[in-house]
Amino acid sequence: ATKRPGGIMKKNSRLILALDVESRDKANSIASETEGIFDAIKVGYPLMLSEGLSVIKELSNIAPVIADLKIADIPNTNHLICNRLFSAGAQGVIAHAFTGRDSLEACVDVAKRWSGDVYAVTEMSHPGALEFMAPVAERMVMLALVAGASGIVAPATRPERIRALRRAAGGLTIISPGVGAQGGSLRDALEAGADYAIVGRSVYESANPRAAAEALLDLI
Ligand code: XMP
Repeated sequence: ATKRPGGIMKKNSRLILALDVESRDKANSIASETEGIFDAIKVGYPLMLSEGLSVIKELSNIAPVIADLKIADIPNTNHLICNRLFSAGAQGVIAHAFTGRDSLEACVDVAKRWSGDVYAVTEMSHPGALEFMAPVAERMVMLALVAGASGIVAPATRPERIRALRRAAGGLTIISPGVGAQGGSLRDALEAGADYAIVGRSVYESANPRAAAEALLDLI
């Protein structure tokens, strides 16, 4: 793999919508209502297991889609998974780094073929991430750099950790979940060095997702 730090995502609002709803209709209606605000839409297991991979293509008419299956397998299987996701229309995928260099490089190799992005998970945003992930997160950032990932995922719930991971990450893109429902502050995450904040429940569970998204924009 060759280095491609930064990736191809456009940087306008610096907001990514995590669309963890379980129906295609709800996903499409929230994505349409908030069209133009988010730089990307992240879809994960909840929506893809409910509605299948075809949601990726539908949503990608509205915004680029990042498929968050936190891929974590042997290189050959990672290769197969990434091919499925990119051919379904994803512009980026999220993969775990803890599986090691060969597994992460398998994702990057496929992404390059599709001109897509790979974001490597380093330290997750929930409290349990302090048990096993945080102590080795800087090493996982180095792995993301060496493997040629576009970026890393770092926790908005711990801005001081974003700051530390930014120091290790150089020009890699940092996408950061944990704003809102998990208690993280949008401004703190961006100031600490995140390029994008990922926001889910505080938008899609709102009675007015567009207003909730615009309120976030006002904070930036
Ligand atoms: P909420 O509803 O808490 O949604 O705003 C956050 C979204 O981000 C995902 N998540 C992560 N994804 N690495 C990831 O790749 C992480 O460290 C991480 N923490 C949260 C979560 O699944 C949801 O979609």
